[in-house]
Amino acid sequence: MSGSVTVMGSKNSVLPLLAATLLTRDECVITRVPDIVDVQNFTKILEKLGSKVIRKNKSLKVCCGELKSDCPDKKLVGSMRASIVLLGGLLGRLHKARLAHPGGDLIGARPIDVHLRAFRSMGANIAEGEIINATAKKLKGAEVYAESSVTGTENIILAAVLAKGRTVIKLAAQEPHVEALCKFLNLMGAKIVGVGTHTLIINGVKNLHGAKIEVIPDMIEAGSFAVLAAVTKGNVEIKGVNHNHMDAVYNKLAEMGVNFEKTGSNLYIRPSGGAYSAASIRTGYYPNLATDLQPPFGVLATQAKGCSSIHDWIWEGRLGYLYELKKMGANVTIMNPHQAQVFGPTDLRGSVIDSLDIRSGMTLVIASLAAIGRSEIKNIHHIDRGYEHIDERLRALGADIRRVES
Ligand code: EPU
Repeated sequence: MSGSVTVMGSKNSVLPLLAATLLTRDECVITRVPDIVDVQNFTKILEKLGSKVIRKNKSLKVCCGELKSDCPDKKLVGSMRASIVLLGGLLGRLHKARLAHPGGDLIGARPIDVHLRAFRSMGANIAEGEIINATAKKLKGAEVYAESSVTGTENIILAAVLAKGRTVIKLAAQEPHVEALCKFLNLMGAKIVGVGTHTLIINGVKNLHGAKIEVIPDMIEAGSFAVLAAVTKGNVEIKGVNHNHMDAVYNKLAEMGVNFEKTGSNLYIRPSGGAYSAASIRTGYYPNLATDLQPPFGVLATQAKGCSSIHDWIWEGRLGYLYELKKMGANVTIMNPHQAQVFGPTDLRGSVIDSLDIRSGMTLVIASLAAIGRSEIKNIHHIDRGYEHIDERLRALGADIRRVES
């Protein structure tokens, strides 16, 4: 692989920003919006609720003057996990919401107890059946614990900015997309302090107004391209990277012997001599290595000398791609749903493999490009949920990749 590729806006950041537009009657503008299926579906949900959405290139204008409903489209809600943040957005704006259970990747049990406990502490009544039915005569500030849940923290923030009084979110998630949501809401007139820390203090305001924000670069995409370049021994320039979000990635790339260089907002990956080194790939909350990047690093481990260990405690279904890598010749021992060992280096062979979720789908594309021979990846709709026009962008780097109808 050689050439240059630009990182798109972050999927997991743009979706809560879109939910935040529900909190004002004014127009909001969001730029660097990735053209991915999750964004298309989320904007369809907003339109069905009454928002006007105009897309021009990478920019979205969203105006939610009048809301027609408190019940987002069930099928679209079921197509992604991030739709859970509609609960906070609708509770904040209307003091009521009826939300079908969110869907998304089958990567493990995805409880929402943290979200619901916080809403209840803030005065909401919540009944959980086929749909989640939440109402609040008055939403009032409270001291709540977010247990580092990413969408949990985002949901509480969305509900709290228009609530009466002061909300203190303890154990808040610190991911860059949580910080970006706080910045956007503050631009809209919210009063959030402690942005980017584990304790957020929110003083509720009466109204929010329109604002403009640029979506942060997708650190998962940037990390995935870095691994892709490394395993294909490529010479690749990755443009539009926020290096501040990438410490855990750079730490692991350096440990494993990947030759990389940062210049301005670009990241260069260059061929290294010899095999990479085995490493311990442990996921954690930000700023540690994101669980969403564990699968690409698993592929890098197949090209590393020695025994790499993987420990991903966050989801119990995040090692499924390793069974697909085994089909490609990887030497892997899966000890339990959270832990595995990868022995390398091994030549990967092209195979027929299954894209199980967004991240494992992209991971198998990476593995296939590193493999000898042809691979056929099934269920690529998962990949399109999170990576914009991935086939075109990879072809521009020299990949021989095309979509085929099944
Ligand atoms: N958890 C609970 N109770 C809750 C919420 C979470 O026990 O009420 C547990 C989960 O079971 C998990 C851990 O806490 O073990 C972390 O879950 P979190 O709530 O932080 O995950 P999430 O908000 O559902 C977001 C991303 C995921 C990413 C995780 C972890 C979005 C839309 N999704 O999920 O992204 O893996 O944070 O960083 O932001 C992806 O993009 O492929 C993806 C799965």
